[in-house]
Amino acid sequence: MKRFLIGVLATACGLSLTTAEAAVTPPPPKQEWSFDGPFGTFDRAALQRGLQVYQEVCSGCHSLKYVAFRNLADIGYSQNEIKLFAAEATVVDGPDDEGEMFERDGLPSDYFPSPFPNDKAAAAANNGALPPDLSLMTKARKGGPDYTYAILTGFEELPENWKELDEYSFLPRDFELQDGLTFNRYFPGHQIAMADQIAMAAPLAGGVVEYADGTEATIEQMSHDVTTFLMWTAEPKLEIRKAWGVKVMIFVFVLTVLLYFAKRKVWADVH
Ligand code: HEC
Repeated sequence: MKRFLIGVLATACGLSLTTAEAAVTPPPPKQEWSFDGPFGTFDRAALQRGLQVYQEVCSGCHSLKYVAFRNLADIGYSQNEIKLFAAEATVVDGPDDEGEMFERDGLPSDYFPSPFPNDKAAAAANNGALPPDLSLMTKARKGGPDYTYAILTGFEELPENWKELDEYSFLPRDFELQDGLTFNRYFPGHQIAMADQIAMAAPLAGGVVEYADGTEATIEQMSHDVTTFLMWTAEPKLEIRKAWGVKVMIFVFVLTVLLYFAKRKVWADVH
């Protein structure tokens, strides 16, 4: 018994030591989303604002290669609007009869064009870090949309005396921010190459887009909108899935009641 207790104690100490030493990235704070819960749906206005943020800010570095222009019909755009929107993009097509690739205006059937010709060029332009494709981002990372939102709003200046501040106790003591990288508390590793071309700390700054519906473009608002949009790109059938879930639950409930009464009727003579 004594040995067992000593064993338990030693393990507990060992565990607490390792957790104290290991740097843990704070989990992304939970946000409220229109698509949460069994009755969740996408907020159309937020989706359209989010598309605008992607288009005007993120598309400079991040591709969205699994989304075609024609898919924008899902978020409330007419065929004509989609045609005009697609035509603003330049896509590489070919080869033509001479075997050459050529550029042309986008068509609704085209996918969003990537900002860089290939991954090497993309990384070279971004301090060696590849800006990942955003189509499935909100599904690909732990924390989902909360993570994407946390990254976008988590840029901050690391104070000189961070080692003395409790707030930064999650950072390894030997942490050093590399030149050209920006501190972000929610990014694993905490240094992220997501700085803007004009050397701003983060891709979003208040007012970088002007919303057509008059919504004020704060960093939080734009982050929330673009994350909603990226949730749609990652799971365009979310609303249908949730609607089916509710229908199936109702069906199962009705079936249970029917089966219960059927059972009572069938067994009535026996009992
Ligand atoms: C100037 C280029 C640039 C712009 C503009 C930009 N990003 Fe990034 N982004 C990057 C790079 C580079 C990385 C990879 C960072 C790394 O690995 O250090 C990244 C990483 C990310 C990540 C984290 C990915 C991960 O691996 O966990 C998310 C989420 C993200 N970007 C979303 C966005 C969104 C949304 C926008 C638009 C509001 C945007 N980015 C604008 C360059 C950019």
